[in-house]
Amino acid sequence: MKGNYNSIASYYDRLSKIVFGRAIVNAQQFLIDFIRPGSTVLIVGGGTGWMLEEITKKHSSGLNITYIEASEKMMELSQKRDFCANKVDFINRPIQEVQLKNRFDTVITSFLFDNFSAATSLQVFKQIDEQLLVGGSWLFCDFQLKDDQLWQKLLLKLMYSFFKLTCNIEADRLPDTNTLFDRYHYKKKLLKTFYHDFICSSVFRKEAD
Ligand SMILES: C[S@@+](CC[C@H](N)C(=O)[O-])C[C@H]1O[C@@H](n2cnc3c(N)ncnc32)[C@H](O)[C@@H]1O
Repeated sequence: MKGNYNSIASYYDRLSKIVFGRAIVNAQQFLIDFIRPGSTVLIVGGGTGWMLEEITKKHSSGLNITYIEASEKMMELSQKRDFCANKVDFINRPIQEVQLKNRFDTVITSFLFDNFSAATSLQVFKQIDEQLLVGGSWLFCDFQLKDDQLWQKLLLKLMYSFFKLTCNIEADRLPDTNTLFDRYHYKKKLLKTFYHDFICSSVFRKEAD
């Protein structure tokens, strides 16, 4: 399996703040507002788990969270987070190797799909889609490229070189997730951009086929 964040887990959050300031945090805080009380939530690729604490500030109890994270070091950090009276099931495996029995009201993926080739994106997308209930929300956050923004292309190239070197990720370009959301019958309910449009947070609702 390609892509291992162990070597950078201890400084990942600090590094992202140096490069993007509060934008990465703000983009995900925006999505947390769309989690309903008492819901079942699937988080895939949660990183150091800081989002668990942000979620807990809004919902100190009642959530049933399944938290899937491939890196052991990221998982160690995540398990130390304070999630109050919410129930969190931690699964330290790549999502592709996980068989989930339950289904979810809400799915959260932030900066996950930018790790994947087109083929892996399709596989992971299908797998997550199967776990989300019709009418449920997919809270999605990732980078996007605007055609005329050379600085975005250069920064993305630099980021891919860094993550290839340190984490051996398989991707070298952003996958076309908008097409996947269209193909699998999702309706974009809301979109907000951050960091001069380079980061995009979207709320997708799963419609019936
Ligand atoms: C770029 S980091 C983003 C972390 C976090 N979502 C954030 O925004 O701070 C991507 C995370 O996804 C995890 N990851 C990558 N591929 C994965 C997979 N196939 N299954 C589960 N987690 C994965 C990595 O270990 C890493 O923690």
